[in-house]
Amino acid sequence: MKVLSLLSVLASAITVVNGLGVTRPPTGAVVVDINSNSDTTYKSIQEAVWSLPNDTSSQTIFIYPGTYRGQVILLGRPGPTTFQGYTKDIHDQKSNTVLLTNSLVASVAGSNSKSATLQIYSNDTNVYNLDIENTYGTGGGRGAQAQALALSQAGQRNGYYGVGFFSYQDTVYTVNGTSYFSNTYIQGAVDYIFGMKGVAYFCNSILASSSRGFITAQGRESTAYFGAYVFDNIKLITVMNATDNSMYLGRPWRNHSTVVYKNSDFGNVVNLRGWTNWTPTDPRTDTVYYGEYNNRGASAWNPARANFSKLISKEEAEGQWSIKGTLGSDNWIDKRFC
Ligand SMILES: *[C@@H]1O[C@H](CO)[C@@H](O)[C@H](O)[C@H]1NC(C)=O
Ligand SMILES: *[C@@H]1O[C@H](CO)[C@@H](O)[C@H](O)[C@H]1NC(C)=O
Ligand SMILES: *[C@@H]1O[C@H](CO)[C@@H](O)[C@H](O)[C@H]1NC(C)=O
Ligand SMILES: *[C@@H]1O[C@H](CO)[C@@H](O)[C@H](O)[C@H]1NC(C)=O
Ligand SMILES: *[C@@H]1O[C@H](CO)[C@@H](O)[C@H](O)[C@H]1NC(C)=O
Ligand SMILES: *[C@@H]1O[C@H](CO)[C@@H](O)[C@H](O)[C@H]1NC(C)=O
Repeated sequence: MKVLSLLSVLASAITVVNGLGVTRPPTGAVVVDINSNSDTTYKSIQEAVWSLPNDTSSQTIFIYPGTYRGQVILLGRPGPTTFQGYTKDIHDQKSNTVLLTNSLVASVAGSNSKSATLQIYSNDTNVYNLDIENTYGTGGGRGAQAQALALSQAGQRNGYYGVGFFSYQDTVYTVNGTSYFSNTYIQGAVDYIFGMKGVAYFCNSILASSSRGFITAQGRESTAYFGAYVFDNIKLITVMNATDNSMYLGRPWRNHSTVVYKNSDFGNVVNLRGWTNWTPTDPRTDTVYYGEYNNRGASAWNPARANFSKLISKEEAEGQWSIKGTLGSDNWIDKRFC
């Protein structure tokens, strides 16, 4: 026993030295451990959030392995907040050891946002190495065919790193503000990344489609404000019930829907038309901005593409749609992830 625990201490020390793992609470962190009865730790992430001072200080919540049930809601702290799940490799979502799980459909919750398992309404929030699911959505069957969110993201300069998001319809909601997703895994089928006002940049991530549908439903309503999604170095895959060529890259929730995919691998996932209308009788396709650049795979750009989408130039892809061009600033992004 002694030898074993010494070995595991050494092993965790080594992973920390490598800079890849975070297996012990950073100095000053509030600690959550569902499997501990220590009176210096919390058993629930939400209780840890409630314990944070409502001031401009930087705060970190470190979470030990386990399954944590219920919602987690972070309401407007003035200071930066970090959530860090125990991991041996911060870059590898599959190494996550912390699961946040809840089952709630929007019609019962009262709104899309209120159904989300993780709700961030704060600026300068970083979330690392958590898996977040809404099992109403992942459960399949009839129940899956309704809004049930894993994440509701509101606020400026929020980063999601090595995070897994699992649902069916409306998995990730960008309510407003700016957000950056890297090394993430996002699973769903219908409009599974959606929002009107949020500007979000997704890179080095996997979008896993679980049944025929629409990856995005970006809903910029007018040119009076900016709202957009950029996907950079993304791998599209199918899981569960999705079949080849069964997914659209997006459909316009509102008239000025704005989405770019670049440097990504579409495999056989995408319907060759690429993009579709909101509904046949209410297409909303006249003023969309749907751009593609330098993607690969059999379902990448081809002659069957919808005529309201376009190939964009290298200058556009790397200028206007760079991280900084898209989000307005990039100095807040964790440099280990870009
Ligand atoms: C934090 O304090 C501000 C006022 O400074 C208040 O508006 C806000 O509701 C407080 N947040 C929480 C979670 O109590
Ligand atoms: C977040 O930033 C926005 C705009 O910069 C500001 O209006 C808002 O009050 C900030 N939110 C909090 C909780 O400090
Ligand atoms: C896959 O299809 C089966 C049979 O129609 C259904 O029971 C199941 O819920 C579906 N799963 C998903 C994730 O859509
Ligand atoms: C962003 O959305 C949140 C949640 O609905 C809201 O509280 C906040 O005021 C919004 N921020 C802005 C700048 O609209
Ligand atoms: C969206 O565009 C259509 C066709 O151009 C127009 O009829 C409709 O009023 C627009 N909707 C909004 C909310 O602006
Ligand atoms: C785009 O394609 C549709 C059919 O898919 C056609 O009805 C429409 O006229 C085309 N629009 C333009 C501008 O070519």
